[in-house]
Amino acid sequence: MKITIEKDEHAFDVAAAWRIIGQMLKKPEAVIGLSTGQTTGGMHEVVSQIYKSYPFDVSKVTVFNVDELTNLDRSYSGSCYTMIYEQLVRNLRIPEENFIMPPTLSDDFERECEIFESKLEARGGVDLQMLGIGFNGHIGINQPGTPFESTTWVSPMDPIFEARVRKETGVGPDYPLGGLTRGIKNIMHTRHLILVAKGEHKADIIEEALFGPVTTDMPASVVQLHPHCEVLLDAAAASKILNRI
Ligand code: GLP
Repeated sequence: MKITIEKDEHAFDVAAAWRIIGQMLKKPEAVIGLSTGQTTGGMHEVVSQIYKSYPFDVSKVTVFNVDELTNLDRSYSGSCYTMIYEQLVRNLRIPEENFIMPPTLSDDFERECEIFESKLEARGGVDLQMLGIGFNGHIGINQPGTPFESTTWVSPMDPIFEARVRKETGVGPDYPLGGLTRGIKNIMHTRHLILVAKGEHKADIIEEALFGPVTTDMPASVVQLHPHCEVLLDAAAASKILNRI
């Protein structure tokens, strides 16, 4: 596990953006997994700005997001499809067929999980996954307790995120919400993993995930076992680990 610490949020966004662009340049037919949330919006913006100034060939690049909300319309501004489309896919004009996302609405999500995985498999598997971390250590939407053997499935959301989605969409407490997420096993099968975190509010969870025991109670701790994992942090997110590296 290689740990990179950038001096501030902007330097973090730029470094992360270059990891994404670097993968696209190195392998024009690369399959790249993205992650939504406050951590990744800035890096997607930098990728878009660099592309606008110095366009490069993305006609064969495949992108997808590691997870997606279920039972809400895709047009909801918080759907992963819409976020990734607006933050990156639209700006780089990535061909529609190369933006692979499960639907948000379906009467057979088990099947949708299989289809999602088989599409990624058909393109040779995933080269790079940019992976956010939740306040409770979740990766994708795999909450604490998820087995490391889990494969793409529909998981409950964490309660704080779920409350925000319910508020934003106005759906009642009994309406079933969840998230289709690549399982921990699928994430671990990615060739190159980059765990990203910024901000002081992530400092404790980063310390626990990287230096605590590898346990399903802390899903992100599994990255300690990945043979090609980089952890990319800003100084604030790294503030609790400085004496351990
Ligand atoms: C959501 C996403 C995760 C992401 C996490 C972190 O739960 N489904 O994939 O890693 O948020 O979000 P943030 O970057 O806003 O802290």
